[in-house]
Amino acid sequence: MSRIIAIANQKGGVGKTTTAINLSSCLAEKGKKVLVIDMDPQGNTTSGLGIDKNELENTIYEMIIGECLLEECLLENVFNNLSLIPSNVNLSGAEIELMDIEGKEYIVRGQVNAIRDNYDFVIIDCPPSLSMLTVNAMTTADSIIVPIQCEYYALEGLSQLIHTITLVKKRLNPNLNIEGVVFTMYFARTKL
Ligand SMILES: Nc1ncnc2c1ncn2[C@@H]1O[C@H](COP(=O)(O)OP(=O)(O)OP(=O)(O)O)[C@@H](O)[C@H]1O
Ligand SMILES: [Mg+2]
Repeated sequence: MSRIIAIANQKGGVGKTTTAINLSSCLAEKGKKVLVIDMDPQGNTTSGLGIDKNELENTIYEMIIGECLLEECLLENVFNNLSLIPSNVNLSGAEIELMDIEGKEYIVRGQVNAIRDNYDFVIIDCPPSLSMLTVNAMTTADSIIVPIQCEYYALEGLSQLIHTITLVKKRLNPNLNIEGVVFTMYFARTKL
């Protein structure tokens, strides 16, 4: 059975994308079938995996607004065992377009559930916000990994993240768990 893991922290630049890319690549290298979903309009995971994000006809944005099927934006075997649902700046429009849609919290889940068993792991890179995109990642995921940068202010905002995860678990996805935290950018002089 596949596992869906979201990499989330609303704080920017803490290593979400780096964790998503490295974790996915290592699992693929070990022979696991991996799907990476880029849920961030910055598209860093997409470009980080070597895809020209500005040349894409279909991305997760078109999938979310119903202009394409998942299969039409899926880039299969970008690397051996590693497939990608890419993103680019278009995704920043999704928030507004989803505003009045019923069931907007589950749009990605519905699509991903249909294909999850084709993979051992699905890794979702979240944007640096607690937006509807992050909520969609949290309703799709079985668990969340929280990258935390080893610096003082990292802990401010963590309670907000835990609060959001608790709310999503209570109201939208009872199966959601926190897989754990990953401390990133540790240097010997850091105090955390
Ligand atoms: N362990 C590390 N040591 C040093 N630099 C790192 C490390 N991990 C990530 N970085 C660098 O820190 C920056 C931010 O990392 P990354 O883009 O993965 O964070 P992010 O949380 O995804 O950012 P955003 O919130 O903007 O999506 C990048 O320039 C990345 O190369
Ligand atoms: Mg990122």
